[in-house]
Amino acid sequence: MPQKKAVSAPKAVGAPAEIVIDSADSTDLKSIVRLDALTTGNAKPKYWKHLLEGSRAHPDQQFFLVARKGTSLTGFIVGEIRAWEFGSPPCGWVFAIAVDPDHRLGAVGSRLFDAVCQRFRKAGVTKVRTMIARDSQLIMSFFRSQGMMAGPFIELEKDLDE
Ligand SMILES: CC(C)(COP(=O)(O)OP(=O)(O)OC[C@H]1O[C@@H](n2cnc3c(N)ncnc32)[C@H](O)[C@@H]1OP(=O)(O)O)[C@@H](O)C(=O)NCCC(=O)NCCS
Repeated sequence: MPQKKAVSAPKAVGAPAEIVIDSADSTDLKSIVRLDALTTGNAKPKYWKHLLEGSRAHPDQQFFLVARKGTSLTGFIVGEIRAWEFGSPPCGWVFAIAVDPDHRLGAVGSRLFDAVCQRFRKAGVTKVRTMIARDSQLIMSFFRSQGMMAGPFIELEKDLDE
């Protein structure tokens, strides 16, 4: 029987109630880039700036939410409503989520996920999807805990030779 918690992490500092979920703004960019680089080992400032600007330009369709504790950014989530991609009716996609390692296992990720789902519902969509790496046990455990299940699509790919 697989264990529920495959990866251990320290309990979060501070109660979830101290965390405020809000839309990201340009002053959050530096902290977002830093947290992503810490999480993935790859800094991509242009990518995050582009997503942030998209969420400001299309606030009813693209969502970039942050979790704040006081003036510190403790996490973020990026979601977008896409219509008819792969033949699918409009649905919400979660493209990225990250929580500061010092604040994990304190429900920050769950609150970010709830908040983006709330935005999706308000916009009228009834399905949320994401894509994860097969070997990312942590992300899999997290999304399963949010009620996400395997969906009807599979990803295909191939290397493109020159
Ligand atoms: C996945 C992540 C967002 C979870 O954030 P979090 O705030 O710690 O999550 P929560 O406290 O809301 O946890 C909700 C549930 O997820 C699961 N979960 C979270 N962390 C887990 C862990 N380390 N091991 C196993 N299950 C875990 C649990 O079921 C947990 O519920 P429980 O505490 O009642 O058991 C966070 O660990 C993270 O940022 N990881 C790196 C993400 C990443 O690689 N992002 C880049 C690609 S998008």
